[in-house]
Amino acid sequence: MTRDETAPTATDRVEDLLADLTIGEKLDLIHGAPDPEGVATGYVPSIDRPGVPSLRLVDGPLGVRPESGSATAFPASISLAASWNPSLAGQVGTAIAREARAYDQDVLLAPGVNIARVPHGGRNFEYYGEDPQLASRLAAEYVEGVQSAGVMATVKHFVANNQETDRYDVSATVSERALREIYLPAFRAAVESDVAAVMTAYNRVNGIHMSDHHRLLTEVLKGEWGFQGFVMSDWWGTESTVEAARAGLDLEMPGVPFEETAAAEAVPEGIDPATIPFPDTLPAMHEGGLFGDPLSEALDAGDVDEATIDEKVRRLCRTMDRFGLLDRQGDSRTGRTERSNRSDRSERSPGDGSDGELDTSAHRDLAHRAAREGAVLLKNDDGTLPLGEEETIALCGPNADRAKLGGGGSSEVTPFAQVSPAEGLRERAGDLTFERGMVPITGSSLFDAFAPDEGDDERNGRGESSSDGPESGSDHETALENAITAAEAADCAVVVVQDDTTESEDRSELRLSGAQDDLVSRVAGAAERTIVVCRTNGPIEMSWLDDVDALLQTWYPGQADGEALAAMLYGDTDPGGRLPITFGRVAADYPTASEEAFPGVDGEARYDEGVFVGYRYFDYEGTEPLFPFGHGLSYTDFEHGDPVVEPTGHGDTEVEVTVPVRNVGDRPGSEVVQVYVGEDDPALSRPERELKGFAKVHLEPGERQEASVTLDREAFSYYDPNDGWTVSPGTFTIAVGRSSRDIRGETSIETERE
Ligand code: BGC
Repeated sequence: MTRDETAPTATDRVEDLLADLTIGEKLDLIHGAPDPEGVATGYVPSIDRPGVPSLRLVDGPLGVRPESGSATAFPASISLAASWNPSLAGQVGTAIAREARAYDQDVLLAPGVNIARVPHGGRNFEYYGEDPQLASRLAAEYVEGVQSAGVMATVKHFVANNQETDRYDVSATVSERALREIYLPAFRAAVESDVAAVMTAYNRVNGIHMSDHHRLLTEVLKGEWGFQGFVMSDWWGTESTVEAARAGLDLEMPGVPFEETAAAEAVPEGIDPATIPFPDTLPAMHEGGLFGDPLSEALDAGDVDEATIDEKVRRLCRTMDRFGLLDRQGDSRTGRTERSNRSDRSERSPGDGSDGELDTSAHRDLAHRAAREGAVLLKNDDGTLPLGEEETIALCGPNADRAKLGGGGSSEVTPFAQVSPAEGLRERAGDLTFERGMVPITGSSLFDAFAPDEGDDERNGRGESSSDGPESGSDHETALENAITAAEAADCAVVVVQDDTTESEDRSELRLSGAQDDLVSRVAGAAERTIVVCRTNGPIEMSWLDDVDALLQTWYPGQADGEALAAMLYGDTDPGGRLPITFGRVAADYPTASEEAFPGVDGEARYDEGVFVGYRYFDYEGTEPLFPFGHGLSYTDFEHGDPVVEPTGHGDTEVEVTVPVRNVGDRPGSEVVQVYVGEDDPALSRPERELKGFAKVHLEPGERQEASVTLDREAFSYYDPNDGWTVSPGTFTIAVGRSSRDIRGETSIETERE
């Protein structure tokens, strides 16, 4: 096809626009402002004369979070990661993007792809676990899913935002090799999927705030990786004017003080948003505007040149053009816009081209399916699960009558409907008694600080506001006794436990809060069989593990919590997940056990473990995990044949690994074939084995399929700070199995000097 030489190219169009804009207009385009509609998380106003429409940005990874309004609450990202099903992540991304379009939003502030370095991480639920390969695959498909619906995706938080404690200031002291091998790959995968935007992290990396980090923003992200989109700051996360402008930050968000944002409208009457005493755990939210007047002054003073500003506007407009936004007709300030041309101009086909849709039955079903695919059956002694329809159930747990939607903070979603474990199981169980067993847990949220006197309300939609449950010590004893009595009388006890995490805080310890451990032990002591359902953002210490018969990890399952739980407990479907993060026995098992490593000393968190994060560290130390990375049982059994490795013909290091898998049980189920690579005698210290590919296959009873995984050159490489990605000549073991510690077959290949 030859291009019509007379038709304007996207580049011409953006260059014409740049030539038309005044410097004042350009400066206005690169920072946020209040959203006149009070819906968006962030807003960049239109410049009407030359025709640049407004840009509306909305959270977040688990579903859309308009300042007021509801949306489908999908399972947390850690649950998506546990599905080991990248295509599912793509479908969820598309659904969330359609809901964002229903709210007339242009940019989704998702996915979050930071690596779960610290098991306590308060936002681990918003991310894809501890492994770069798994996180990269999920990130890539989520981004493509979002963008296929015509919405820009934003990969965040770039980079090394691996803890919440001191997040605005802490400096990650991290080697180049660990950055490249562990922390950067998921961002790079998003860039390779043409992600529209990158959000900088609040923290510093090797002493430099990420919004000021020229090397990572300009040299690595835009230079080496060829990122074509725009870089925005995290909210109130712009550190400076001149440094940030020169470093490659393109858009300051939200660009205004808290009191001018749509979020301020939710502050209860009688409280002046401008005087809320935000704690140190939040950024300087009464400020904002480092790219406004200060940048104009820096320009006048010659500290920043106009070409630098032009490049930011160019990136923004180029991306808007790619998504068809420059074709928007009508008054973009009022939101009464037409998007009829949008699909014509988009680089990608924007899904079905229709406008958004909200709370459809397809989205509800997807939320349900995703919750099941991400749940991990950690333990199932003597076929305790699935339950029989006729068994009598004692359901316990402080909040088992509420769906666990997510953690606190910017990812909170308020669903239209939700199903709690109590509701879901009551639908299925012949005879169910619900005894809470203890005082309900009240969640805290980053947003509590926004409304100091009303922190504990239903606004955040986590479904965890204080309930009318028992409050005093003696009520607690009574509740526990009632639970024990119910457990004794029933065939089986189901205890639903949970943690309570929020953005801006890390978990203070890995044990369950309050009296939950005691509740599990006491119920397990009384019941004939006990099933524990863990709704946590990651590993917990389980003093009671040996006393319980089955354990199902459901993370934060979202609005379909109870429905999905019932479907799994009664065996309508297999819990389809595998762990995306190692479950250690105790916090001391992890590489972040010292204060220097986490949360850091004097503003510095030392990543001295280098590339030995998660299972790489457990293998290095020879520590037996409680449940290894990749672990997850099924209601059926699988048999793996020997892996066969064949060259694909693209260089000596690109090979295809094929493994026959058979379902040898009598139920359908999904198996995740995991391919790990390790160098036998590495010249430098390398992990014993690293996940380099995986394939999920669904098998009917007796069915056999060949799972195949392609390993490219990078699967064998390490990052050398001087030479870049390097493959040593030598022998590599390719280990294929059900988890990082359950290897079913091995083979080896030789690599040659390049
Ligand atoms: C979070 C971001 C979020 C932004 C806007 C920040 O607190 O770190 O992930 O997108 O707020 O709500």
